[in-house]
Amino acid sequence: MVGSSIAFLCASNALDDIVLLNRTKSKALGEALDISNAIPKNSDITIKGTDDYSEIRDSKIIVITASTGVYLKNRNEMIGAQVNMIKNIASEIKKNCNSSNILIISNPVDVLTYYFIKETNFPRNNVIGIASSLDSSRFRYLISKKIGVKQSQISNAYVLGEHGDSMVPIFSQTKIDGKNALKIINHAQKMEITKDLRDYWKSLRNFKSRSQFGIAKNTLDVIVSILNNNPLLSPTSILLNGEYNQENVCMGVLTTIESKGISKIHTMDLDESEKKSFDLSAQTIRENIQSV
Ligand code: LAC
Repeated sequence: MVGSSIAFLCASNALDDIVLLNRTKSKALGEALDISNAIPKNSDITIKGTDDYSEIRDSKIIVITASTGVYLKNRNEMIGAQVNMIKNIASEIKKNCNSSNILIISNPVDVLTYYFIKETNFPRNNVIGIASSLDSSRFRYLISKKIGVKQSQISNAYVLGEHGDSMVPIFSQTKIDGKNALKIINHAQKMEITKDLRDYWKSLRNFKSRSQFGIAKNTLDVIVSILNNNPLLSPTSILLNGEYNQENVCMGVLTTIESKGISKIHTMDLDESEKKSFDLSAQTIRENIQSV
């Protein structure tokens, strides 16, 4: 559902030719037939479905949303199968596309971003895990609901770290009408927002099988910034090489994305508790990486 939602957004915005690849060819064909009718009438872009990796040869951008199943309790519960899957996908992509930007949505996204890089040796700035921007959209939404302000009044609201239970909302840098959010949000509200943020995906599942549109729009933003070389400031999961004193781990940090992928990692000022939570999040991801 996530892959076809992203393809639908790309097609209806007439961005570029699209290939939907699924191990079940009929699934890819069906979605392509459907989404073909969302291509604007003055656009000549095409969309096709396939199960053949050679069809994605030399793509500018490859978006990976595949999954071996549906996790129920947390995003790491199928980690072994998911890592095997990403290694297979990575080796097929390496055969066909050497200079693509890879956007990884599949979960556990930080761990899979790590293994994709290790499997392909692609430059770290071209392998981008998309999730912390979704968490940041949720962070903004929850603040607006809890505090009773419009989302447009909230700025600099970022979530860093694991796309998982250890994610870190950076309240200390968040602004409401330009003022430090911590002057408006009290401790109890901060704890409630943090809990609701980490449990957002579970609450969503009380109503629908999984998230689809939030992640799709956040992925579209990255695709547009790469295609149009339009710099986008957004938190994404990238392999850290010393930033935040972390090495050899993929986790959400604030980045600038443009045509060449991630062009800059921004080191945000974190308060003491945020620093501690960030390091704990790094350790959690490292343990998950090593658990495979
Ligand atoms: C979620 C999935 C995209 O957070 O991990 O809804």
